Amino acid sequence: MRASKFVKPRLMLGYSLELFFRGRILHRNSLTIHEFMRKKISVNEVCIGMYIDEICGSWMDHPFWKKSFLLESDKDLATLQNSAINEVWIDTSLGCDIEAGSGAVLEEDVAQDVENELAQISAPTAAKIPLHEELDRARALLAEGKTAITSMFHEVRMGNAIKVSEAEPLVDEISLSIARNPEAFLNLARLKNVDDYTYLHSIAVCGLMIALGKTLGMSGRDLKDAGIAGLMHDVGKALIPNEVLNKPGKLTDEEFEVMKGHPRKGWEVLNVAEGANAIALDVCLHHHERVDGKGYPDRISGDKLTLFARMGAVCDVYDALTSNRCYKAGWEPAETIRKMAEWREGHFDEKVFQAFVKTVGIYPSGSLVRLKSGRLAIVLEQSGKSLLTPVVKVFFSTKSNAPVMPEMLDLSRSQETVVSAEDPAQWGFDLKKIAGI
Ligand SMILES: [Fe+2]
Repeated sequence: MRASKFVKPRLMLGYSLELFFRGRILHRNSLTIHEFMRKKISVNEVCIGMYIDEICGSWMDHPFWKKSFLLESDKDLATLQNSAINEVWIDTSLGCDIEAGSGAVLEEDVAQDVENELAQISAPTAAKIPLHEELDRARALLAEGKTAITSMFHEVRMGNAIKVSEAEPLVDEISLSIARNPEAFLNLARLKNVDDYTYLHSIAVCGLMIALGKTLGMSGRDLKDAGIAGLMHDVGKALIPNEVLNKPGKLTDEEFEVMKGHPRKGWEVLNVAEGANAIALDVCLHHHERVDGKGYPDRISGDKLTLFARMGAVCDVYDALTSNRCYKAGWEPAETIRKMAEWREGHFDEKVFQAFVKTVGIYPSGSLVRLKSGRLAIVLEQSGKSLLTPVVKVFFSTKSNAPVMPEMLDLSRSQETVVSAEDPAQWGFDLKKIAGI
C-alpha cells in the first residue's frame, strides 16, 4: 500500500477507512496531500511563536508529553533545543513560518519515509535478542510510559479532552520492545507496586494485547490498534472516586456499581478525544463483557463481541490477577493461567484464551517451578518449541534444602522436565532478585 495522504485528525468526521499514524491519518483510498502546511525543520531553526505539530524521533528522547503545541516560552524552546531531538514538524497555518530559503522539507517528500516506517512496525518477525539485553530498555520504557499515562489520567480528571494520537509513539516503542524480547517488557510490567497499579495496568495490558495480537497473526495497523486499545481501556477509572478505586478491602454492592461505571465513563472520554478510533472505543466499553453475556455494562455475548474486545477481556483479567492490589497480593502467573483455564468457559473466547496461553506460556516467565530432579528454577523465557519446555534458571535443591550454583537450562534441549509450579511465598524467595530483573 502506498501511504500518501495526510489529514489532521481534528479535520476528520469518520474513522472507518483511515489509518492513524503518528498523529496523521493515512487514507487507504486516496493519494492527495491535504491542504495544510507542515514543514520539517531543524530544532536550531525553531522560534517562539511556531506551532510544533510533531516532534521527530523517539518520544523517550524529549520531555514533552504533548507532541503538538504552540511554542510560547523561552524555557520550552531551550528544552527542545537541548534535547536529543534534531528535527520537528511545524504547522504554519497555526503558528509562525520559517524564513524563505531554509532547509525545510515538505510533507510529500517524506511520504515514502512514512510508508517505510509503517512497514517496519508491521514486520512480524524481528530477530529476538536475549532477555538481559532488553531489560534496561524495557525498564526505561515502563518508567516513561507511567509518566505519560499518569499525565493522561490527570488531564481526564481535570475535564480536559485527550489526544489519543499522542500515545502512538509509546505504543510503537512497546511494540518494538516486544518484538525484540517479549518477556522483558511483560515481566517487568507485571511486577508493579500497589500504588502504580492503575497506570502500569494500562501499559501492561497494552503490551499483552500486542503480544497476543501477534500470536493471533495480526500485524501493522491491527496490531497497533490492539496496543492503543489496551493502553486506553481503563481510562474511565480516572473518573472513579479514589476511595472506591483504591479501597483496601472488599467493595460494597453500591461501591461495586460505581466501579462498574468505568467502561462507559471511559467510552465517553474517548468519544470526544482526538484520534480515538472505533477499536479503542469498543475495547474500552466492552473489556468487562463475558462470552456468556453475564459481563457488564451491556451484557453482550458471543459473536457480538469483537475480537479486540475478547482479547481485551483476557489480557485485563490476567494482568489484574497477577498484580499486587490494594486488597490482595498478586497471584503467581502459572497459578493464574491454571485458574483462568478453569473459568474460561463462559468468561473467555476459547480461541483467544488458547492464543493467550500460547503467548505467555503454561509456566509464564517469572514462575517458580520444581523440576524432575527436585531442583527449583525460575522461568525466564518461553523456548518457542513447547509450552511445557521454557528456558529456566535453576538455583535451589529441595533434596539438600540449599542453594545450588545457578544454571541456565533450555528445557526443550534437556532431560529435565517441570513437574509442578511452586508458590515462592512458601519458600521465601525473592524471585525478582534471582531472575536478575
Ligand atoms: Fe476495566
